[in-house]
Amino acid sequence: MTLLRDNALFAAFDRAASSYDRLTAVNPGYHGHLRRSARRLRLPDGGRGMRLLDLGCGTGASTAALLAAAPRAEIVAVDASAGMLDRAAAKPWPAGVRFVHAPAEELTAAGVEGPFHAVFAAYLFRNLTDPDAVLAAVHKMLVPDGRLAVHEYTLRGRPVDRAVWSAVCSAIVEPAGRLVGDRELYHHLRRSVLDFDTAPVFASRMTTAGFESVRVLPLSGWQTNIVHTLVGRVPCSPADRR
Ligand SMILES: C[S@@+](CC[C@H](N)C(=O)[O-])C[C@H]1O[C@@H](n2cnc3c(N)ncnc32)[C@H](O)[C@@H]1O
Repeated sequence: MTLLRDNALFAAFDRAASSYDRLTAVNPGYHGHLRRSARRLRLPDGGRGMRLLDLGCGTGASTAALLAAAPRAEIVAVDASAGMLDRAAAKPWPAGVRFVHAPAEELTAAGVEGPFHAVFAAYLFRNLTDPDAVLAAVHKMLVPDGRLAVHEYTLRGRPVDRAVWSAVCSAIVEPAGRLVGDRELYHHLRRSVLDFDTAPVFASRMTTAGFESVRVLPLSGWQTNIVHTLVGRVPCSPADRR
């Protein structure tokens, strides 16, 4: 089975949407870790006067985490799967939160314009055909000193991390996927993590895209060395911007 990309991936998320929240609810740390990553954006004053982008918002778990970190901000939440987005939009949200159906690669065409003060992307980049192009687009949409937090399955890079991830998938992730009738997407999850960047490699990608002060931050629980928050900021001085 090859990796799912673009329309095939969005369709797989459409099919998974009805069971997605049930599966994440039994994943220990899922919501707490998203909130921790969102807090790592260090948005002052509850995000008052700020515009934030949640890229790949899915059913809204990452949007809720962003809202908890910045309850006074305006939040635009984008996803390419109509099924996932419908689930998100059906939840109760304050007036400052809106949802847009669009691929991350076509934000402007969908009417999503910068500038944003911060971008949060949780479990998105591993799924993209061209992560560098999306990093460059995000960089352009951010204000000087604007922040990016990427929350992602990015292995630390040792053989033991691959072994732990493979064991978790064989014992829990793939059987859970089969239980909800979704073998394909959860196999994609296993393979896409193994094929994607390690955390240090993704950090280098962010630096190459023009982000500065890039840091790889750990998370706890079974996700230790498997899920990381990667944070970076856009340089303040125009001379430093690419
Ligand atoms: C694993 S889910 C994570 C959802 C949410 N961020 C969370 O933390 O629960 C990944 C989401 O990314 C979306 N996605 C994947 N590729 C995308 C793309 N190119 N553009 C926009 N959304 C995309 C999928 O539709 C899916 O809803």
